[in-house]
Amino acid sequence: MLSEDQRQGLKAEATSWCYPKTRGKASKLRPPLGAARRPADFACAVASRYGRDMRETRALLNRALAGMGTTIFAEMSALAVETGSVNLGQGFPDIDGPAEIAQAAADAVLAGRGNQYPPGPGIPELRQAIAAHQKRFYGIEVDPDAEVLVTAGATEAVAAAMLALLEPGDEVIAFEPYYDSYAACIAMAGATRVPVTLRAPAFRPDLDALRDAVTDRTRLILLNSPHNPTGMVLTQAELQAIATLAIERDLLVVTDEVYEHIVFDGEHIPIVTLPGMRERTVSISSAGKTFSFTGWKIGWATGSPELIAAVKTAKQFLTFVNGGPFQYAIATGLALPDSFYAELAARLQRRRDLLAAGLQEAGLDVFIPAGTYFITTDIRPLGESDGLAFCRSLPARCGVVAVPNVVFYDNQDAGRSQVRFAFCKRDEVLADAAGRLRQLRS
Ligand SMILES: Cc1ncc(COP(=O)(O)O)c(C=O)c1O
Repeated sequence: MLSEDQRQGLKAEATSWCYPKTRGKASKLRPPLGAARRPADFACAVASRYGRDMRETRALLNRALAGMGTTIFAEMSALAVETGSVNLGQGFPDIDGPAEIAQAAADAVLAGRGNQYPPGPGIPELRQAIAAHQKRFYGIEVDPDAEVLVTAGATEAVAAAMLALLEPGDEVIAFEPYYDSYAACIAMAGATRVPVTLRAPAFRPDLDALRDAVTDRTRLILLNSPHNPTGMVLTQAELQAIATLAIERDLLVVTDEVYEHIVFDGEHIPIVTLPGMRERTVSISSAGKTFSFTGWKIGWATGSPELIAAVKTAKQFLTFVNGGPFQYAIATGLALPDSFYAELAARLQRRRDLLAAGLQEAGLDVFIPAGTYFITTDIRPLGESDGLAFCRSLPARCGVVAVPNVVFYDNQDAGRSQVRFAFCKRDEVLADAAGRLRQLRS
């Protein structure tokens, strides 16, 4: 234990080389022996030392990530806490998933299953459960040993797929608005994103624009259906057109299907089920949305042995593995009967309708989603057009937090007046939010 005097002495010493510009000469940059024994002091010294040096040469942040500061979710969630608002911004459920899945995680921890590094591709029980899920819902046969990779959420699966499959100079086509990690992952792989805009009110893909967007540099199409934030679900005909284009132009397809079980109108069809797509598709999903355990970050990628081997090569150097005991628990979850999945969709459909009615009453234009747990709206009927300003002012105006869709667009004009609300919340929370939003009319 350090005495108070020793602590003060160390603090003074550390401070003297933390701020060399004002406190001393260059030699002071080196930490004096005995100083910085505490990690916090050392971090302070390193940060300010390199911060000072690097400002004189080049920016600290890799230029591929320039401009990608804090995500809008962090900003808006902080605002929700600060103002005590109902948070319909970030897409996480306000009730945990089934007790038997939570119990399975606790049992695994206590029984010592998964507490040490699990196998790199994921525990066999989970890989088998994922394969069984693909067979049960879509009739897809996947080999749990060669064609399934467990990841740290869908987020890591997308990142690993981009890092594995792209090279600098490659182009990736994605429908915008898109989930914010896509742009960052494409950039980190040194590739270029090419957006094709989904337009209100239906947000259906413009298949001619998609075809026109393909160049000799196009490497892959990054799909998301059911689609966040618009709630659009790709139809069989649209998927067929995308598949035909991918085959014709020899493109890979990476498809993010995390909302596969949250569909209200139409059905979710994995593009990998279409002829000729098996060898060119990486399908991604995760447990977060389906089982309401978004914090566990258990996701997966499935695809041909060659594609999965490539994605695994990148993934092993990102997290290597994660969430050992949670992997056992999600294997239990995936085995739940069809009724669990049907009830999930029915419950969320009821909540969609509840919030949609509230938003309509508040005077917004509401685009009813066919899937996901988000509703996109347009604020122009309220006489406003700047979604970002609207979202920043909404907590003070009526105690609700939402997210501006403009942050998901490259073509900002297309999304400037759109605002997204999440409805993965309890009925009473949604009813409360609807009541608060009514104040917008007054
Ligand atoms: C489209 C989409 N993909 C991926 C994710 C992240 O999934 P995970 O939490 O499994 O990493 C989200 C979460 O909001 C999402 O909306």
